[in-house]
Amino acid sequence: MRGIILAGGAGTRLHPLTQVISKQLLPVYDKPMVYYPLSTLMLAGIREILLITTPEDSANFVRLLGDGKQWGLSIQYAVQPKPEGLAQAFIIGREFCRGEPVALVLGDNIFHGAGLTTLLYSAAARTSGATVFGYRVHDPQRFGIVEFDATGKVLSVEEKPNAPRSDWALTGLYFFDGRVSDFAAGLKPSRRGELEITALMELYLQRGELQVERLGRGITWFDTGTHEALLDAATFIRLIEQRQKLKIACLEEIALQQGFLSEAQFRGLLATLKQSAYREYLAGLLE
Ligand code: DAU
Repeated sequence: MRGIILAGGAGTRLHPLTQVISKQLLPVYDKPMVYYPLSTLMLAGIREILLITTPEDSANFVRLLGDGKQWGLSIQYAVQPKPEGLAQAFIIGREFCRGEPVALVLGDNIFHGAGLTTLLYSAAARTSGATVFGYRVHDPQRFGIVEFDATGKVLSVEEKPNAPRSDWALTGLYFFDGRVSDFAAGLKPSRRGELEITALMELYLQRGELQVERLGRGITWFDTGTHEALLDAATFIRLIEQRQKLKIACLEEIALQQGFLSEAQFRGLLATLKQSAYREYLAGLLE
């Protein structure tokens, strides 16, 4: 399975924070935001990654993440000239996807919690259909929404409805099979002029091939699209990291755990890092 991180967009809601820096490079407590969605893909066992950014921001992402080899990954880059919709990621990424199953994560989405890795692994193991994730929210108008019947069967998916049919938001993490680039190429822009991710999901739903996993109380999900949400996410990460003395979305640690790096490679990587609390944490993992 391959993975795409969509890290473009205008960042308008966070102006002036995003005047000269991409939103997905802003700090979330002790790491750049993009580390979190990248860690989600790594936890799903994904090593082949395409990062889609704006033409202006691309160079900064390359400076930060490089070709990914340091974490046992392969990271490629592509640009999206204008934010014309989330589903466009599969058109831009068509060659990268090569008709194989692919996971898309939005560069501003953070997932954390018990059982997450198991959920991610099972979604990544499915080779046909689509798997997406539902999360209960108190402000459903802000999100894509999924409606279930009494038996838990999916009835509909809808992007930012005025009158939401449920309070189950669709998170910004999507697993699709190898047909997704073809499906995306056939989409028409919505009324707001975007190729909608919910329109792609509808194609799978019509075929009876859309699976929605509901994330329970053990899992925390943040979309960091507003100032409040950004601060909440940073506060949450700080609290958990300080209480547990474990880091969230520490890419080096995950690479070691997942076997993307051998212990010798991990030691080699450590030697290249400047002295910092982050480096000390990594060194501590070997003790
Ligand atoms: O976070 C979950 C929500 O993400 C879902 O519930 C919605 O169904 C989904 O549409 C999306 O809603 P947002 O309001 O967060 O969408 P937004 O247009 O802000 O885009 C999400 C991120 O993707 C944002 O960081 C900008 C980036 N983006 C967006 C578009 C439309 C791109 O890189 N390219 C794009 O074309």
